[in-house]
Order: sequence, then C-alpha cells, then structure tokens
Amino acid sequence: MKTVNHNFQRRSPLMACLLAAGLLGNIAFADAADSTGAVGTAIDTSMAAMTKEPMARFNGDGTLMRPTGYREWIYIGSPLTPNDMNNGKAAFPEFHNVYIDPASWAHWKKTGEFRDGTLIVKELLSVATKSSFSGNGYFMGEYQGLEAMVKDPSRFPKADSYWGFFRFTTEDHNRLLKTSKVVPSSACVSCHAPNAQQDMVFVQHYPVLRAAKGRGEAGTGGK
Ligand code: HEC
Repeated sequence: MKTVNHNFQRRSPLMACLLAAGLLGNIAFADAADSTGAVGTAIDTSMAAMTKEPMARFNGDGTLMRPTGYREWIYIGSPLTPNDMNNGKAAFPEFHNVYIDPASWAHWKKTGEFRDGTLIVKELLSVATKSSFSGNGYFMGEYQGLEAMVKDPSRFPKADSYWGFFRFTTEDHNRLLKTSKVVPSSACVSCHAPNAQQDMVFVQHYPVLRAAKGRGEAGTGGK
C-alpha cells in the first residue's frame, strides 16, 4: 500500500525545496512517513519488542529524541477544541490523537497507575472539513505537530509527579524537530497539574484509559 503523504498544509514552496534538498536538520512529516525503506526494516515494532525497550530515548544532553512508531502503540483518544466553538481563538484548535506506549499500557491495565518510564504522545491534526457523507461534524486533516510527556523520577526529580513535557513542533507548525528540550514547567504543568484527573494526565477525556484502569483484560473491549 502506498504511504499516505502527510505534508503540512502550511508548508511554503521555499520550505519544501529546502527540505527536499536536505538543507534543514529537522524533518517534516512527509519525510518521516516516506522513509519506510530504512525505518521499516530497522525497528522491531512487535509488541514483544515494544514492551521491553524503554520507549523514551534521551540524548547525552538530556534532550528527548522524537518518539517514533507511536501510531502502533495504544491509541487512547482524540480530544478536540475547535476554533469555531472558542470564539475563533482556541488555544489548541487541532485534533489531539493521543497514544501511550505498550509497556505502560500493560502496567495501567494491571495497576491503574502510570509507571516510571511512561511515554504519552500527542499528535496534532488539523480540522480538514466540517461535512461528510454522514453529516456535519469535524473530520481530521493533516498532521500538524507532536508533543510528549515522560514520567521519569531520575531525570525529573523536582518536577510535579516527575513528568517532563516536550514539544517537537516548530512554532510555525511547518517542521518536526529531531529532539526537544524539556519545556519549562510554567508552560505546561501549570495547566495539567491542577486540572488533569490523575497524575498530570487528563484521564477524564480518555475512555480507553478509564475502561481499562486496573481491570486487566476486562477493560480492553468486548469482554
Ligand atoms: C491550558 C491548559 C493546558 C496547557 C497550557 C497545556 N496543556 Fe496539554 N493538555 C491539556 C488538556 C485539557 C489535555 C487533554 C484534552 C486535549 O488534548 O485537549 C491535554 C493533553 C495533553 C497531552 C496528552 C496526555 C494528557 O495529559 O491528556 C500531552 C502529551 C500534552 N497535553 C502536552 C502538553 C505540553 C507539552 C504542553 C506545554 C507545551 C501542554 N500540554 C500545555 C491542557 C493543557
């Protein structure tokens, strides 16, 4: 099957040229998605491998490497706060597709807690269209960004509940960064800490997490 092209909608022709010529250190979604030849064979995405590997990979300078392969992890939900329901100025107008790494999901099912090492990825998608053959609504468009949070007491001993927050999207939403420094806690934690239902995560908005919390296989659907 042909790889879907995840070009950014807002990418300029100049940016496209620079990227095609490999002149920028960072990569765009199209480039990440299209490089299947090398990536597809190099990374073992079997569930067995994914539950063994530490999913958050840090560089020597403490920056987090951009997670890969997360669309094959556990998908927990897609919150959306569209512009037209927020006076045209939503803080986060995109769809948020959220994933948790497989080992942390297994731990969540068993204990109802986020284990040390939990990696949660939030992928941003534009609202493409507001009507389809089923009726009016909000339908996903293009990939527009990537954020992540990692729970790690050894790396973030002073952070609230030991979570580090990361942003891999450039300000213009045109490119993805290869690495991210931890974002100062005022930018993210200030909202997550008081409002998220459990351990800095907005569990209240993820039915997949709520259903499986400490319930083992009983919470995985159809049981
Ligand atoms: C004004 C409040 C607010 C701020 C500021 C904020 N977030 Fe969130 N974040 C939310 C809400 C609410 C959700 C869940 C619903 C949604 O995605 O809209 C969320 C979800 C997330 C998730 C998915 C896991 C979860 O907890 O639900 C990640 C990852 C995330 N945010 C990262 C970040 C990062 C990184 C920053 C800082 C750059 C940030 N957030 C700043 C409110 C905020």
